Amino acid sequence: MIRRAEPHHEVACPPDKSITHRLLVLAGMACGKSSILSPLVSGDTRATIRCLEKLGVRFDLQGDRLEVESPGVARWNRDPGILDCGNSGTTARLLIGVLSSVPGMKATIAGDESLSRRPMRRVLQALPADAGVRIESPSGDTGADRLPLVIYGAKLSPFHATSKVGSAQVKSALTLAGLGCDGETTITLPAGSRNHTEILCVRLGLPVSAERYGALETITVRGPGEVQPFALRVPGDPSSAMFLAAAGLLAGVRCMIPGICANPLRTAALDVLEQASIQIQRTPVRADDLSEPAENWIVPAWLDGSKPLTRSRAWGAEEIPAAWVPAIIDEVPVLATILAFAQGPSMFRGLGELRVKESDRLAGIVRLLNAAGCAALAEGDDLIIPGGLKAKAIPDFSFDPEGDHRLAMCAMVLEQVAQKTCNISDRGCVEVSFPDFERVLLSIASKSGKK
Ligand code: S3P
Repeated sequence: MIRRAEPHHEVACPPDKSITHRLLVLAGMACGKSSILSPLVSGDTRATIRCLEKLGVRFDLQGDRLEVESPGVARWNRDPGILDCGNSGTTARLLIGVLSSVPGMKATIAGDESLSRRPMRRVLQALPADAGVRIESPSGDTGADRLPLVIYGAKLSPFHATSKVGSAQVKSALTLAGLGCDGETTITLPAGSRNHTEILCVRLGLPVSAERYGALETITVRGPGEVQPFALRVPGDPSSAMFLAAAGLLAGVRCMIPGICANPLRTAALDVLEQASIQIQRTPVRADDLSEPAENWIVPAWLDGSKPLTRSRAWGAEEIPAAWVPAIIDEVPVLATILAFAQGPSMFRGLGELRVKESDRLAGIVRLLNAAGCAALAEGDDLIIPGGLKAKAIPDFSFDPEGDHRLAMCAMVLEQVAQKTCNISDRGCVEVSFPDFERVLLSIASKSGKK
């Protein structure tokens, strides 16, 4: 019997933010012309472009192709002044790493109010004191941890760094710094954070390898490593796709989201959904110029828990252990939003890192879910979501995302599901990762049978 495929609504997802940042920095480090195909053009990635321009890198966007021309890291402007990273933690941390290993560099890394509250020293804290780098506040405070910070680059000695934080930004910054050293550098940290830098380095023939030992991973860089120009395409961003998946699931609209990065360290949120019996169908996409494999997602329609997809499991994702957190770090707010509608409780353990994101995201998600009528609570660094929320029970709510794009998108999804106009301030902050979010969300809502 031939089964006809069920109709679905196709929604475009923006290109991956983490990969775009890395390709921008790597193209800036290479001497010559590189091309980045379908890069994310958003507030955050524009911040990386602006900073690299001050270092002497030129960019030209032609359709969805970004041409990059650089004199190479060895010929970067050594006195670029203030590098304004805006709201982008990835820009700030990657640049701290790269610039620290450029001899003679003196650059001030700055950011907006939110970024200036976030810890920065974690990048260089992991370095041994004798590695050779100096970082201090503009007033000369050598213990400062917040932006603005002045980086004095040096020819670093190879180092063995250990970080207690399972952070891809820290790992990537130190890996890029290691490329400037002559000899073997190692970076050891809790395993499980995204590994785009390692993948790209290997793909570009750079001397970087990664190994996992139980709960820890070690990156080895056999420097020096000189980046050569390249042409690579950016796949779709799984973290942004999760908001579209949430909108489709909760509005009861079956959606197809094409070309999403299939890196398992970015799609672990789908494993959490699977624990809650929500299956997203995934089919691989082939393209040789993709920086990493990609896949299409088909998101089922799930009307606020009233249509279980399978009957075999209890609803609710039950308990998500702390070891999963590095791989779902950006998806916890949207997962919590979805799981608020599950028929059972869910608990995320060990979310301390969420407190130092664009806002205190753990407090923010509790505030949002409470405003929407779900009695979620944080106990220490754990998040408990009782489940059982119904779209019809969501009151008119007010919410201030405090400039945090991911919290704003969660609030906008809830507003769509409730079919209300809520008082969400600063909706424009979604521009840092998903400039077109409101329009795409409305296109999903317009297909909802409930409309
Ligand atoms: C990112 C890593 C994560 C993530 C951030 C992007 C990256 O931060 O939250 O949005 O591109 O490396 P941490 O690595 O600090 O957890």
